Amino acid sequence: MKERKQPVILGIESSCDETAAAVIRGRVLLSDEIASSAPVQAKYGGVVPEIASRAHAEAVDEVVERALRSAGVGKGELDAVAVTYGAGLLGALLVGLSFAKGLAYGLNIPLIAVNHIRGHLAAAYLEDETLEPPFVTLLASGGHTAILHVRTETEFKVLGGTLDDAAGEAFDKVARVLSLPYPGGPHVEALAREGKPVVPMPKMLKGLGGYDFSYSGLKTHVINYVHTHEQRGEPWSRADVAASFQSAALDVLVQKTAEAAHECGVSVVTAGGGVAANGYLRDSLARTCAAEGLKLVLPERKRCTDNGAMIAAEGLIRYRAGLFSPLSVNAEASIPLR
Ligand code: KG4
Ligand code: ZN
Repeated sequence: MKERKQPVILGIESSCDETAAAVIRGRVLLSDEIASSAPVQAKYGGVVPEIASRAHAEAVDEVVERALRSAGVGKGELDAVAVTYGAGLLGALLVGLSFAKGLAYGLNIPLIAVNHIRGHLAAAYLEDETLEPPFVTLLASGGHTAILHVRTETEFKVLGGTLDDAAGEAFDKVARVLSLPYPGGPHVEALAREGKPVVPMPKMLKGLGGYDFSYSGLKTHVINYVHTHEQRGEPWSRADVAASFQSAALDVLVQKTAEAAHECGVSVVTAGGGVAANGYLRDSLARTCAAEGLKLVLPERKRCTDNGAMIAAEGLIRYRAGLFSPLSVNAEASIPLR
């Protein structure tokens, strides 16, 4: 049988504070480079859009060059350029998108505009070359939290998700009330390791037997708990609050993801998005999947948070499906989960 040519795809990501670029050949990752303005943003307690845009403009050329160089791939060998067009900060997106358009036009190769959240979903394909739908995915980032039934490489059904804050957003807000720096997730995880989940937390599941969650009640509970104890001068443990919040926020995601896999009749589970970098979530997913006979495909931590490889991976899917974008494609600040 004739081997299918493996396309070489450059992926570029600039939707928030990470300028990232990666090269893949088929599903093989050749390079994965990143420059982050997070240390600068940390001084302001969150992402300042103007600072992000400026940092992207300064970094994009070099990060792409680095990705090509460490992949050992010349520009002329690229089959397509994939780039995030949304969702994200408009100014930040425009830097990556304009750069990708220039490159695709100059090289006369297809431009593939990628929905960032589909990139998070596609990261798992690079982790396991044999991964094929159908499977169930837990997506948990700063903007989304949802459980998906992935039916084909391009189609998924949203089984349920957050009705208010995303999981990452809740971690970031709880981090602030615990006086932890931005981005909050990894700091809450580190602090939680020193504590025990002994502080009672509200349930965050909405609707009996469903897959919808609400994080706002949990977040408000933590804020009230901390403020009340401080006002009354009562002792409380930051580490115990972090551990209790973390398990309340994540246990339900693991349990519901496994339930969804059984209900959809699939035997494979994947995860993606920044919160999937959380060690507690990863261990808990691994334990639950092993106990319930489910295969777990979990992207490496650095491919759960924003990266160029996941954009290239989604680019490959769209390349094979012939889903190219015109050079007139625009950046979009928000895109519904589709
Ligand atoms: O996917 P991502 O890098 O960007 C978005 O698409 O939003 O996710 C960022 C979110 C932030 O809210 C961050 O605090 C959270 O993911 N995050 C974590 C961890 N690492 C990143 N949350 C919990 N534990 C972590 N280790
Ligand atoms: Zn992301």
